[in-house]
Amino acid sequence: MIDLNNGIVVVSGGGSGIGRGLALKAAARGARVAVVDIQRDAAAETVALLAAAAGEARAYEADVTDLEALQTLASQIERDFGCINMVFNNAGVFSGGTLAQTRPQDFGWLFEVNVRGLYNAIQAFLPALERTAAAGGLAHFVNTGSENSLAVPPLGPFSAYTATKHAVFGITDCLRRDVKGSGIGVSLICPGLVQTNLWNAKRTRQDRFGGAREAAAAAGGSMAAGRTIEATADTVFEGLDAGEFLIVTDPRIRSFAAPRLDEIARALDTADARITTL
Ligand SMILES: NC(=O)c1ccc[n+]([C@@H]2O[C@H](COP(=O)([O-])OP(=O)(O)OC[C@H]3O[C@@H](n4cnc5c(N)ncnc54)[C@H](O)[C@@H]3O)[C@@H](O)[C@H]2O)c1
Repeated sequence: MIDLNNGIVVVSGGGSGIGRGLALKAAARGARVAVVDIQRDAAAETVALLAAAAGEARAYEADVTDLEALQTLASQIERDFGCINMVFNNAGVFSGGTLAQTRPQDFGWLFEVNVRGLYNAIQAFLPALERTAAAGGLAHFVNTGSENSLAVPPLGPFSAYTATKHAVFGITDCLRRDVKGSGIGVSLICPGLVQTNLWNAKRTRQDRFGGAREAAAAAGGSMAAGRTIEATADTVFEGLDAGEFLIVTDPRIRSFAAPRLDEIARALDTADARITTL
């Protein structure tokens, strides 16, 4: 079991949904939590919930698409709390449609937040985790991918979003190789559907991508079939305790991820049979 007692945990996208759930679980294990979100009030609400449960936490407003802001934030969190032990790179946004239906601005928005935001956070927090690991402390990145990291789900299409979450898998696997031997751990969470506010992600869309927009409440309907935030966060911590790289939080993902694995295996078999000299 990972020991988070008095540990310092950073959660991006901690003002809502899965991030809030992870922040609450970390605090329940005795961690002190830096709740980071583009929405200051949402981050402050999470901190109030943590305080009500006797957890120590602070809210930080930051946009993960801003590398300099994240670098400043990493130094600020180290000054406020001390050595950082665990960074949940969880902030993410969603927009639906086929690739043809996805406006260039939304394609840019999805990749800036979900992919560049992850790269930025690695740039900003890796030095802090290296210092923690060098001093013998727990140092771990936990990146939030999706069932969309493992295959193309039948629900949708969410084509550009799915593409970003495949990139999150690639970045996280590369990070695992990059930090091998450094004492830093890396995990990838792949949640299935979870009952969060992701359907209304455009509420935080920056002006340069078209500005904030509230979705119609009906847009959230399909998320009711998801697991609860609390159950999802429990599964994530079970995976972290077991030292897993890949943590899948919904067994229903098998129905569309397994056929892709079969397809890859068949293509490898075909290559073996077809190509006998290199
Ligand atoms: N809900 C699901 O079904 C589901 C499934 C798989 C993966 N995910 C992933 O889980 C993560 C969390 O999403 P959620 O479902 O909890 O949604 P959510 O909308 O409830 O929470 C996302 C949080 O990220 C914040 N955020 C958005 N853009 C940001 C930015 N540029 N910088 C900093 N913070 C920003 C939002 O303000 C919000 O508080 C995302 O990466 C999402 O892709 C969600």
